[in-house]
Amino acid sequence: MLNDAQLTRLNDQIALEAYSSRLYLSMAFWAHSQRLPGVAAFFTNHHEHEEEHMHRLMDYIVQTGGRVVVGGVDEPPQEFKSITEAFDLALKHEQSISSSINALVDAFLEEKDHATYNFLQWYVSEQHEEEALFQGIIDSIELIGEDGRGRFWIDKEVRKNIGASGVENNQ
Ligand code: FEO
Repeated sequence: MLNDAQLTRLNDQIALEAYSSRLYLSMAFWAHSQRLPGVAAFFTNHHEHEEEHMHRLMDYIVQTGGRVVVGGVDEPPQEFKSITEAFDLALKHEQSISSSINALVDAFLEEKDHATYNFLQWYVSEQHEEEALFQGIIDSIELIGEDGRGRFWIDKEVRKNIGASGVENNQ
């Protein structure tokens, strides 16, 4: 059973996952507005992943008999100067999520809550994969170049990363 402080920590993480979901949905519709269907499909898929991350935490809290808090979500940015800017922001965002997962892991380990510590290991691996995925895409964008027809090839390249794990891609 989770105590109140532990529940607050996990509910705060739920709020971060909800924001991530909205951020990628916003990026998806920005990409549609730029006529970049591959980038839009990638971010839509990533938005769905974030919903999954959020629900996994919700399910865990319910399993422990705790109360899930469904809070509001801040409005994400709506406009991006370039594909590069969107992916740079996505990577920075994932790095901040990794830090918050690490802080959660530290706290539950310190409290000797091994069940929750174990549950959170899935997120540790997931964050590692996501950071590698976004970094790999940023590297490809840099190689192709975003000028002129580059946007066409980048759009195709980004689409290939739907459902990919960054770890496989970077090996
Ligand atoms: Fe749920 Fe992208 O971290």
